[in-house]
Amino acid sequence: MHSVVVTGGAGDMGQAICESFRADGYLVFAADVKPGKPDERLIPVPLDVTDRAACKALAERANREAPLKVWVNGAGIFVTGPVEEADSAVWDRIIAVNLTGTFHGCAAALPILKANGGGHIVNIGSVSGQVGGVGVNPAYGASKAGVHALTKTYAVEGARFGVTCNAVAPGLLQGSMTGAFSASQMEKMMKTTPMRRLGKMEEVASAVRFLADRQAGYVTGAILPVNGGVYLYG
Ligand SMILES: NC(=O)c1ccc[n+]([C@@H]2O[C@H](COP(=O)([O-])OP(=O)(O)OC[C@H]3O[C@@H](n4cnc5c(N)ncnc54)[C@H](O)[C@@H]3O)[C@@H](O)[C@H]2O)c1
Repeated sequence: MHSVVVTGGAGDMGQAICESFRADGYLVFAADVKPGKPDERLIPVPLDVTDRAACKALAERANREAPLKVWVNGAGIFVTGPVEEADSAVWDRIIAVNLTGTFHGCAAALPILKANGGGHIVNIGSVSGQVGGVGVNPAYGASKAGVHALTKTYAVEGARFGVTCNAVAPGLLQGSMTGAFSASQMEKMMKTTPMRRLGKMEEVASAVRFLADRQAGYVTGAILPVNGGVYLYG
């Protein structure tokens, strides 16, 4: 049995990702500031991803219980509001959780995955990190663009040791995060999504699982869009 750590593991997407790994026999550490309920082979862990030492300690703990194979950086926050009124304290917090937290996760996982002879880091980026976005604090898109760049750096660093690092870049998904948008904002965004629907958390979890699998062993530094074709004409 191998272990996997999923940060943001109690969130909508985190739960779908944890369940997918759990169903395949992994020992899953679901790390979150608001940890959920335990289950068979699912261990909820209180973790603030802005705490670097705690991320490192979690990687070591998971690896002691079963060799660490995968680390998913999914913890994230999203704050809506007009861009012109964006608050700088909110900016700092979003960068701290979404970007610096992902950095701490990558830094905690890499040495252990290297020592284990290989493994996979999967970061959760966003279409906002590719095209920006209004109606949300500008730190959100900036943090996710940073996550995409960080992904490439860790991909290069891990490559010689069999450690892949990739990201998924989801578009709008069904879940509490998009509940922060008004109905008219949602309608507008749906019009620019060729599939004319929100994505499902399970669809993101499947993309994460692909990137965390030996079959994708030659894929690294990729930013995989899971967005209903949002930046295609249509
Ligand atoms: N929902 C979407 O439409 C969407 C689209 C693109 C990307 N994303 C990204 O997907 C990821 C998951 O989002 P979600 O939709 O499941 O939202 P969510 O709010 O349900 O989940 C996010 C989780 O992160 C946790 N968290 C927040 N701050 C934390 C911290 N400091 N340390 C540890 N955990 C922390 C929260 O408690 C929550 O459980 C996020 O990175 C988000 O930016 C979501």
